[in-house]
Amino acid sequence: MIDLQLNNKTHDEERQGEALIVDGPKIRNGRKLYIESYGCQMNFADSEIVASILFDQGFETTGDYKEADVVFINTCSIRENAEQRVRNRLSQFGAEKRRNPKLIVGVLGCMAERLKSKFLEEEKLVDVVVGPDAYRELPQLLTEVESGHKAINVLLSREETYADISPVRLNGNGITAFISIMRGCDNMCSFCVVPFTRGRERSRDPHSILAEAKDLFDRGYKEVTLLGQNVDSYKWKGKDAQEDADIEVNFAQLLEKVALISNELRIRFSTSHPKDITDEVLYTIAKHNNICNYIHLPVQSGSSRILDLMNRTYTREWYINRIDAIRSIIPDCAISSDIIAGFCTETEEDHQETLSMMDYVGYDFAFTFSYSERPGTLAARKFADDIPEELKKRRLAEILLKQQQTSLYRLQKFVGKTMRILVEGTSKKSDKDFCGRNDQNAMVVFPATEGVLAGQYVNVYVDRCTSATLLGSVVAQEPEMV
Ligand code: 5AD
Ligand code: SF4
Repeated sequence: MIDLQLNNKTHDEERQGEALIVDGPKIRNGRKLYIESYGCQMNFADSEIVASILFDQGFETTGDYKEADVVFINTCSIRENAEQRVRNRLSQFGAEKRRNPKLIVGVLGCMAERLKSKFLEEEKLVDVVVGPDAYRELPQLLTEVESGHKAINVLLSREETYADISPVRLNGNGITAFISIMRGCDNMCSFCVVPFTRGRERSRDPHSILAEAKDLFDRGYKEVTLLGQNVDSYKWKGKDAQEDADIEVNFAQLLEKVALISNELRIRFSTSHPKDITDEVLYTIAKHNNICNYIHLPVQSGSSRILDLMNRTYTREWYINRIDAIRSIIPDCAISSDIIAGFCTETEEDHQETLSMMDYVGYDFAFTFSYSERPGTLAARKFADDIPEELKKRRLAEILLKQQQTSLYRLQKFVGKTMRILVEGTSKKSDKDFCGRNDQNAMVVFPATEGVLAGQYVNVYVDRCTSATLLGSVVAQEPEMV
């Protein structure tokens, strides 16, 4: 067994240098990889594929870039400030490269795809640039760099899903893991750079998804999150593994197949799209109590006029209809959202519609953003980024304030109830406390209790909450909520 480490900075949380155990006797070559990820969970999952490809080449990973032979930065282009953070980090790696000229520095992911060879020309400190569909080429590209050339591959693919690559679990707690079920996006939301950086949508073979989920469960994992930019449009056509028959699998069917692996394996998924989420998916969630009652359903804006300019292809009324369907089919479902403040032409009235949508839904949680124009997107080409920064900031602050109030209100609803928690480990603040999530994805902290271990399900009575966390203690009684 080998300990691997890496750093990741996702949209929603900052993670750093947690340990990972990798199984299997592999011959090491004594070289070390440091990989740091920015952006969405997909990027995080991609870094695990990259680590797996280099692990097969004999690399070990390290949590300290100063002792690495190869430094990769898996980048995000979604907003301008994400790119700025990456550039700042690259200049730090550059300083290290001046000290150690043999160090190979690589840019992976969405910025690699967006800026292509510009990195090699402008940032003389970068040796290799690799887009999200070209990671299989990494060993050859590194060989090229070693022979004194700069190397680049940013070709997008219509087929690549890395289905056969078993990701090395990085930063893992050994209990929860991500499984990528599709790549790319065909939606063309006008603000979004993803269709350009990650290419066309393609679904991964369900047999390989099921095998990965089963393998994780057999190794003691208790929760998997199925990942895609738009999981509801998952569709795979091909041959059944056992019978020689043509089959078609949609997202609801995939969810059900994963849920049937074991009732002790919890299933989460992200991201859902309001235009594509079907009642079939909702009924599947309601039918299996190990599919968590939590849906991330980004609204982006509450105004139909803005949604149209965003090319989201649904209206306010359509979104409300989907919320009503969730509430009636899965009564205790938690719902979260992404919301953008200050999109092109947004009026005060449009902004009020976003706030009233938030009131209507009562989101458990929301990721909130100020609109950031991205070069090459439909919005950048068609509309002026005409909302002054100050106004964007004010609207974002109002959205944030409302969300803080709603999140607290939502958490308070759990107080006084007993619920089933999957113990993920000790809490960040104190090793005398455990933490884990309830079915609705709310974080619960409770005193470490004798006989309770990470990876177990326990019943916790919640007696109070802060604005982000439920607090309670382990009890013997049956939960009111699974
Ligand atoms: N500006 C601001 N936010 C954006 N997002 C995507 N592109 C932009 C942009 N150009 C947000 C959307 C998306 C989330 C992942 O990031 O809300 O759902
Ligand atoms: Fe971007 Fe829209 Fe695709 Fe999400 S669904 S990745 S916001 S284009």
